[in-house]
Amino acid sequence: MNWTELPTAIVDRRVYDRAVAHMKAARVVLPTFAELADPSAIPASIGAELDRLDPDAPHPGNLFRVHWYNDRGTPGRTATPRYLDLPPALTGVEARILVALGRHFPMIGAHKVLAAYGCLVPRIVTGQFDPERHKAVWPSTGNYCRGGVAISRILGCRGVAVLPEGMSRERFDWLRGWVAHGEDIVRTPGTESNVKEIYDKCAELARDPANVILNQFSEFGNYLAHYVVTGPALRAVFDDARKQSRSLHLAAFVAASGSAGTLGAGDYLKAELGARIVAVEALECPTMLSNGYGEHNIQGIGDKHIPFIHNVLNTDLVVGVSDRASDALNLLFNSEVGRGYLAQRRRLDPALVAALDGLGLSGIANVLAAIKTARRLGLGAEDAIVTVGTDSAAMYGSEREKFAASRYPGGFDQVNAGEVFGEHLAGIADDHAVELDTQGRQRIFNLGYYTWVEQQGVPLAEFDRRRDPRFWRKLQDAVPVWDRMIEEFNARTGLNRPG
Ligand SMILES: Cc1ncc(COP(=O)(O)O)c(C=O)c1O
Repeated sequence: MNWTELPTAIVDRRVYDRAVAHMKAARVVLPTFAELADPSAIPASIGAELDRLDPDAPHPGNLFRVHWYNDRGTPGRTATPRYLDLPPALTGVEARILVALGRHFPMIGAHKVLAAYGCLVPRIVTGQFDPERHKAVWPSTGNYCRGGVAISRILGCRGVAVLPEGMSRERFDWLRGWVAHGEDIVRTPGTESNVKEIYDKCAELARDPANVILNQFSEFGNYLAHYVVTGPALRAVFDDARKQSRSLHLAAFVAASGSAGTLGAGDYLKAELGARIVAVEALECPTMLSNGYGEHNIQGIGDKHIPFIHNVLNTDLVVGVSDRASDALNLLFNSEVGRGYLAQRRRLDPALVAALDGLGLSGIANVLAAIKTARRLGLGAEDAIVTVGTDSAAMYGSEREKFAASRYPGGFDQVNAGEVFGEHLAGIADDHAVELDTQGRQRIFNLGYYTWVEQQGVPLAEFDRRRDPRFWRKLQDAVPVWDRMIEEFNARTGLNRPG
């Protein structure tokens, strides 16, 4: 297996031809990365059909919605990705904190469906995935495998979700409604940070040649999808915020690292706008901060290892956020008492308070890390920080109930709401925020050795190749090639519109 060379030519012509015939029968047209980056390039005929299509239906047309320019409340494309512009009354800092909302992505209400598309489609158009014979295996802590199962179902192939048994109930409820067979949900031991157990299960599944493992932690399609699609979308968010103040400057991009795919958007924002890149992790599992380990509940992030697709040497800060804070704020933002407190006592705009349900646990962690970053770097009103809400509160109702029952068995009242706000927002400091120097970056990079070289068998030369910034820049050359191959693939199916 080659870990660092991206396929840009057809590897197996017979597999390719079968995939063309299969997609033709399934009436699937594949969007290019360029179309997902700039959906105004999507042909008008497709756009018109989408307006009549349920964004959560397993319909091929929804592949053309796997981008940031959707709004669940309204049909059609938005001019700017939906985002929250968090005011100082909430954050306690003058810097503008802008949060792009992943909830508007189709089918799964999280941007991980983009990562799934980015990992599978290059395989299809290079003749490495046979939708009739292969099963797509999606190792994940919950959202990537939902995205993968959604894409698999649309393409009419088997998709297998591999995830820890301890993830939120909502993830399993969703999966049960989408997989073809119950056995396509594979539960591994543990919770959020038990990725080694997921890898072990994948190694077992990989013994069957029908299983194609799409490992988001090592697939550069994940990194590139975020570089070319999420990067420009976040730039559009920043440009929109800048309309109100022309002197606004993009000081930082903040993202929690699960697979580190989203951090790929940081490479784009740094190259284009000079933003610093801030990687976030759970304080209870401080892998980047201190080579640490542990259990936590910021679901989707922090997996006791350094993903292969993380461009560590381009990362500027690492910030740790406690799951005590994300669990408590999940309750504050999504309970009647908490919302009443924020609107009445803190005088926050009720529309903003209502929109805070666009933040899932990792989105809350991203906001807290952005606040810490602003404090650490001494950012002011002319600085912006862009971050993402990968999924929304809709995925964590059960977690909220569990937390409220254990912490507030007598009920969550106004005093508790004030305490949560005081402890986790007003009182937030710049602790557990580390500005990386060369040695700090190398320490984190080197930590990846134990997972990738020792455990997963990556040749050392391929592991080390990623130290060179030119390696990461060169990766981008694959995307226009894939786009041409997607167009050629679509032409061969003879379809020019979905459905
Ligand atoms: C809820 C949530 N937040 C954050 C992440 C991390 O994103 P990435 O894998 O792109 O680093 C994930 C990844 O699955 C996630 O599901």
